Amino acid sequence: KEWTMEEKYLPYDQWSEEYVNQLRASVQASKWRQTFHVQPETGLLNDPNGFSYHDGKWHLFYQAFPYGPVHGLKSWYKVESKDLIHWESQGSAILPDTVYDSHGAYSGSALPVGDDLRIFYTGNVRDEEWNRSSYQLGAVMKKDKILKLEKPLIDHIPEGYTGHFRDPQVFEHENSYYLVIGAQTNQEQGKILVYQSDDLKCWSLLGPLSFTNESMGYMIECPHLVGLSKTPILIFCPQGLDKTILDYDNLNPNAYIIGDFVDFQSLTFEGTTELRNLDDGFDVYASQAIDAPDGRTLCVSWLGLPENEYPVYQDGWTNCLSLVKELKVKGNQLYQYPVEEMNKTKRLLEEKAEKINSMVTLHQPDENAYELEILLPENQQGTLYLLANKEQTRYLKVDFDSERGLVEVDRTNVGIGKMNETKSTRQSKLLPNKELKMNIFVDTSSVEIFFNDGLKVLSSLAFPEKEDTFIFLEMKESHVSTRLFKIE
Ligand code: FRU
Repeated sequence: KEWTMEEKYLPYDQWSEEYVNQLRASVQASKWRQTFHVQPETGLLNDPNGFSYHDGKWHLFYQAFPYGPVHGLKSWYKVESKDLIHWESQGSAILPDTVYDSHGAYSGSALPVGDDLRIFYTGNVRDEEWNRSSYQLGAVMKKDKILKLEKPLIDHIPEGYTGHFRDPQVFEHENSYYLVIGAQTNQEQGKILVYQSDDLKCWSLLGPLSFTNESMGYMIECPHLVGLSKTPILIFCPQGLDKTILDYDNLNPNAYIIGDFVDFQSLTFEGTTELRNLDDGFDVYASQAIDAPDGRTLCVSWLGLPENEYPVYQDGWTNCLSLVKELKVKGNQLYQYPVEEMNKTKRLLEEKAEKINSMVTLHQPDENAYELEILLPENQQGTLYLLANKEQTRYLKVDFDSERGLVEVDRTNVGIGKMNETKSTRQSKLLPNKELKMNIFVDTSSVEIFFNDGLKVLSSLAFPEKEDTFIFLEMKESHVSTRLFKIE
């Protein structure tokens, strides 16, 4: 189905009950519904928003277009959790229903303050000629009820910048509040602007954050600055970034930089590393990171990309959120790994330590919902096939070489719905001549691979047939240990 602009921007109350019921039935019948990931009830999900801990529970919102698997009129949808693993749906949370957010309640963040959860987000607006502008808006959640503030917190685009001005992240640092936001200069340069406030109401512009000498493309989306009291991490999405600055295979990268400290006087992030990809997979974008009150730095990503069209579209929904990952910096390296709460909810199904000298069936789980851990010795090459059918004509292929420290994932042969991609492989580079450990979380239509305790991550959507649950491994003369877990 081709979506017209009228359909994409139809006010929510004009969708008929009949249409919504049909859509819901189609989604419920989809063979790609996940079991332990946050996914849209209907329609499209994109960026995680407002991730926070407040009132004894975790709050998480996401960008939603509930009426179809396309980027239409966006709202915030809410889920809640006690353990960061099991999420309960709470329904729509912020609707695009005022003059300040008429064309979308866009991305933003949340901060617990006293008894309230304060929410900051972008109101996307278009005029008659479809020119874009935006307001930075506030809302307050009191006892699960969300009230929008009447007036914008930032009501104009700063001098020298265009209407591409969005995705505020608000945080507290040394007795002051700061807001970082994605922006584009009139010369079409991507920037991150910093604002300061003492009361979360009145915001003054400090200026652009200086963190690199390179050009960061034509726009920066979803900036997040975390770990300020440890090792600061800046996560963001530069659009149109030159590939000589950072090599990436997706439409736009979700990049990060770590460094020594951020000086809010001079607005510089000092001692920074080079720019790196947060994830090596096909589908990570708009990751949201927070410093949680328990001291952990946590991160959750959108699994999906702005312009990808997947086989699941036919079922009336698309995309999901990643697992919640804890971020740690060791030496000069960022590690990302699913939160430790995951250990409490998984159950060992099968454990093996064996010598392999050909193609073997490693496991055959009942369904594509598990964690597979594989430990491979150093200096070994081989291939792992996941999401495979018995005849080995359909599979997700993972080639590894621990001698060179290289892993390549190929999704050309997953399922029967073809992906039409220009490049159907992704690679992760690890240290050569080391043992290789892979923790692979498979959930019906997503695969998140954590290498060597999270030194690298490769996350992707994939659309296998239901019965394609075989796991094969092909190696020569090698000892391998594996464990298969069920996520409960
Ligand atoms: C990133 C993004 C944000 C925007 C939101 C709209 O994926 O484009 O910049 O706020 O999605 O849904």
